[in-house]
Formats: sequence, structure tokens, C-alpha cells
Amino acid sequence: MILINHNLYKKNFGWGQFNMLVWNENCIIGIDLIDAQHKHLFEICNQAYTLLKSDLKIDKYNDITLIIEDLRNYTKFHFKSEEDYMLSINYPGYEDQKKEHNDFVKELDSINLTNIDKDHQNQLEDLFGFIFTWILDHILKEDKLIMSS
Ligand SMILES: [Fe+2]
Repeated sequence: MILINHNLYKKNFGWGQFNMLVWNENCIIGIDLIDAQHKHLFEICNQAYTLLKSDLKIDKYNDITLIIEDLRNYTKFHFKSEEDYMLSINYPGYEDQKKEHNDFVKELDSINLTNIDKDHQNQLEDLFGFIFTWILDHILKEDKLIMSS
């Protein structure tokens, strides 16, 4: 079974590192609402990290499905807030940002966790490595430009 079958992930396969997302001052973009939402995104990601790294929980794969659902919903909510903010300040990079957001949402929507079980641990770590790296990279490279425009 393939967990995700979308171009962005395939193109960047092996790109991500499956590490906990650590919040530091580099992540601050200077808009309080967006910074708070980014922090919450990190928290959801780190729930997945903790769960996948846990040896204590035998059946963690139902919980992973719930976390992915949470991540999908919160990412969509957050992107909408960010896009509304960009529009409100006439941010010139709005279209590029929106395209990146849409591509990532398609990626998350294409994740298929039917029949997920312990055989998929490595695939899940790889998938989350990609997700974590995309989010961090996007904040540091794209979102930071919003305030400097
Ligand atoms: Fe963004």
C-alpha cells in the first residue's frame, strides 16, 4: 500500500528528516496570530513524532490517522488565515504562496491510511519527515518574506 501518491512528495522523497520540530526565534515571522498558529502546527506534528517513536503504545496506528486528520484540518484553517492576512496588506507574493499552500493541501489530502499497521512504520516516518521539513522550510523561506515586504 502506498501512503501518499502525489507529485510533491514523490519529487522530494527522502528530502525530509524525521526529527521533532523545535520552535526557536528563527521561526518567528512577526505576526502574532500567524506565529501562534505555526506553534500549534508544530505541536500537532510533534504529537505524531512522539507517537511514532513510542515503544509503549502497541496500536498507535489508529491514533496516527486521527493526528493526520487534525493536521489536514488545521493546515487548511491556518493557510486561510495567512492568505487573508496577505490579501489585507496587498502582499505581492500572495499568488506564489497560495500555490504552495494548495500543492501542500493536495499532498495531505492524498494520504491514504487505509489498513495502516506496524508494517508501515518506516513509510510513516518518511512521510512525516517530508511533512515536517515542508512546514519548517515554508515558514523559514516563504512566510518570513511576508513581513519584510
Ligand atoms: Fe504560508
